[in-house]
Parts: sequence; structure tokens; C-alpha cells
Amino acid sequence: MQNFTFWNPTKLIFGKDQIEQLHKEIPQYGNKVLVVYGGGSIKRNGLYDKVMAELKGMDAEVFELSGVEPNPRISTVRKGVEICKEQGIDFLLAVGGGSVIDCTKAIAAGAKYAGDAWDLVIKKAVATEALPFGTVLTLAATGSEMNSGSVITNWETNEKYGWGSPAVFPKFSILDPVHTYTVPKDQTIYGIVDMMSHVLEHYFHLAENTEFQDRMCESLLITVMETAPKLLSDLENYEYRATILYAGTMALNGILNMGYRGDWATHNIEHAVSAVYDIPHGGGLAILFPNWMKHNLHVKPERFKQLAVRVFGVDPTGKSNEEAALEGIEKLREFWTEIGAPSRLADYGIDESKLQLMADKATVNGEFGNFAKLNNRDVMEIYKISL
Ligand code: NZQ
Ligand code: ZN
Repeated sequence: MQNFTFWNPTKLIFGKDQIEQLHKEIPQYGNKVLVVYGGGSIKRNGLYDKVMAELKGMDAEVFELSGVEPNPRISTVRKGVEICKEQGIDFLLAVGGGSVIDCTKAIAAGAKYAGDAWDLVIKKAVATEALPFGTVLTLAATGSEMNSGSVITNWETNEKYGWGSPAVFPKFSILDPVHTYTVPKDQTIYGIVDMMSHVLEHYFHLAENTEFQDRMCESLLITVMETAPKLLSDLENYEYRATILYAGTMALNGILNMGYRGDWATHNIEHAVSAVYDIPHGGGLAILFPNWMKHNLHVKPERFKQLAVRVFGVDPTGKSNEEAALEGIEKLREFWTEIGAPSRLADYGIDESKLQLMADKATVNGEFGNFAKLNNRDVMEIYKISL
């Protein structure tokens, strides 16, 4: 295990009707509140009205930024920064999924930065301070509600990058499983793939003696795999929604990955695909992750075998590490296919024409990946077997 410091200041407020906590949490930060939300799902399912009623009850002066895109764009971040600077906003409230929260993080940091917010995303400047913000999560997937990361797309240049700063941990996040009832089946599937992928990114690391961390990761994967099929045939089941919602937050809030550094190459490879084709993040991961695994099996076959045996129930008797590992990878693919996730880039109409462009974007900063270093040729190979 490597040395580590764990720090996560986000207050997690979980459960039914917890929206009423807003009036306890927000007033301490000020009166001028910018509510940030997406394309309208919160208006259709009634959450918008509930949030506004809470804000009215605390006499807040409310401003709104709507229309945050899935794969949120820097152009929308810039609009939000302008509102914050012009109106002297005290507090931001993100009501939505990972995209709305990521956009809010960039606005919060951009509002305290003199230059263009894109500088923070491309790491030309470091976000050292940000306006305070909270979240009301509506989709279980990214973990953005309890971490300090954000992913922003520049659609003009087809770039999509992750950035982060301790300044952009949410002050609080309200997670009511009921708010996720209306998430459509496809988005529910993408969220499940995304949270499982976060655990897999952690799982492939080179540190020794992470027995407890391994078991926590395996437990999360097994729980999600047991719950997902039940949830997908009963989308308004409180307990199933609650399990998946909690699992999504735990998958990427720092709890699972103390004492080692996960790989994270597949996320980089996927971000390059959605930068060019604007596909859902979880859909891209479902296609790419098993192929990243096959490509890097040789690095530490025993690690892949451990996953296969403990999580996918592969019987290792009479099999080499590689054989057991490959069986596990097939079972992961089968599981994702069974729940309805895509398995080929062709499922999104992606052919070979822009593979090189995507590989160049993925490797713009050189080789990457902490478990296995990937260069441009490796990325091309993974894309090619994903066609
Ligand atoms: O925009 P609205 O109308 O709200 O609709 C959204 C959107 O179309 C809809 N939706 C959300 N909650 C709903 C709902 N529809 C009905 N009922 C509800 N309760 O779902 C669609 C997708 O929403 P989005 O926020 O884009 O999904 P997700 O949470 O999966 O976020 C994806 C983004 O997060 C980034 C991804 O790259 C992508 O840009 N990530 C962020 C991470 C982080 N900050 O830590 C880590 C992740 O690995 C990921 O990269
Ligand atoms: Zn992800």
C-alpha cells in the first residue's frame, strides 16, 4: 500500500424528501443563488418546482442557467460565469446529473478566475478558489456529487478533458432515490456501466497489498451486478434505485482507492470518442473497457484472474491465469450486453474514418495510463478491435 491522505469535505444527505434540507444548507452561503440545470427533465418530473419552492421559502434571490448539455460544453460554462460575475452570485445549486454538476464546478471556479474558464480545463491555470455550490443529484453514474473532478467539452475544437481542484468539492449533495425514478432505461444502463468502470479503473493498479481495497471494489461490483437487472425491470423501485445511487457515489468519492493509483486510461480513450462523436460516456465505456482489458492482460494476468474468479464466478481449475482472465472479460461483456449496453463503436455509427483523429486527441499529452502505459499505436489497436 502507498502512503495517502484522504480528505473529502462534501456533506452527503441521502434519502426520501431530503430536498427540504436546502433551506438549512444554503442560507449560510448568501442570498443570491444561481440554479443550474439541464435540458428540462427536472421541469417534467416536478423537481424544479420543489427546488424553487424551497428557495422561495428562504427568500433567496434566484437566477437560472438552463440547457446544460449532456457532455457539458465550455460555451455554457462561459454563460454561467458571466451571470456570476455580473450578478454577484453567492451560491450555485446544480440540479441534475454529472453533466450539470461538472458544468457547475467549472462555473464556480471560473467565477473566481480573471481569464477564460477553458484555461482551467486545459490546466493553463490552476483553480485555487471557487464559489460555494451544492448539488441535487438526479442520475446515478459519475460520482461528481462527491468528488472534485469535472469533465468539460469544447465542441468547436472537439476536445473533452477532465480537470479538478480541491476547491470544487460540493459543499453538500442531496441524494433522494425518488429523484432518479424518471431516468430513462438507457441512461440508467449508462450510469451502471459508468460506476462499474470507475471501480475497474481503480482495480487495475500496480501497488501491492491492497487486499481490503480489492474486497471493497469487488463488493461494489457484485452488488451493482446483482441489483442492475432487478432495477431495469422495475425502474421506480425505491430500494433498487437507492442501492445504485449509493454505489455510484461510493465508486468515485475516494473511499475505494486509498493507498494506490488506478489506471484511468479507458476514461481518457472514451473522452476522445465523445469529444468527436458526442456519444454518452457510459455507452463508450461499455464498448472500450473489455477491449482495454484484453489489450493489457499481459501486464499482470493474475490481477485479471482475481477479478474473474471473485466477481464473475469463473472456476480457475485447470486454467492458466490468462485463460481464467479472458473468461472473466467475456463475462463482463456478456453482463453489459444482457442489460442493454452497446458493445461496438458501430452501434453509434462510428467507422474507421476518424479513429486516427481520436487516437491523436487521446495522446495529445503523450503516453498515459498508470497500470499500463498506452501510446498512440496502442490506442489505435483498442479502437480497431472496438469497431
Ligand atoms: O438534461 P436533462 O433534461 O436533465 O436530461 C438528462 C440528460 O439528457 C437526463 N436526466 C438526468 N437526470 C434525469 C434525467 N432524465 C430523466 N429523469 C432524471 N432524473 O439524462 C441525460 C444524461 O445526463 P448526464 O448528466 O449527461 O449524465 P451523467 O450523469 O452520466 O454525466 C455524464 C457526464 O459526466 C462526465 C462524463 O464524461 C459526461 O460528460 N463524467 C464526470 C465525472 C466526474 N465529474 O467525476 C466522471 C465520469 O467518469 C465522467 O467522465
Ligand atoms: Zn466515468
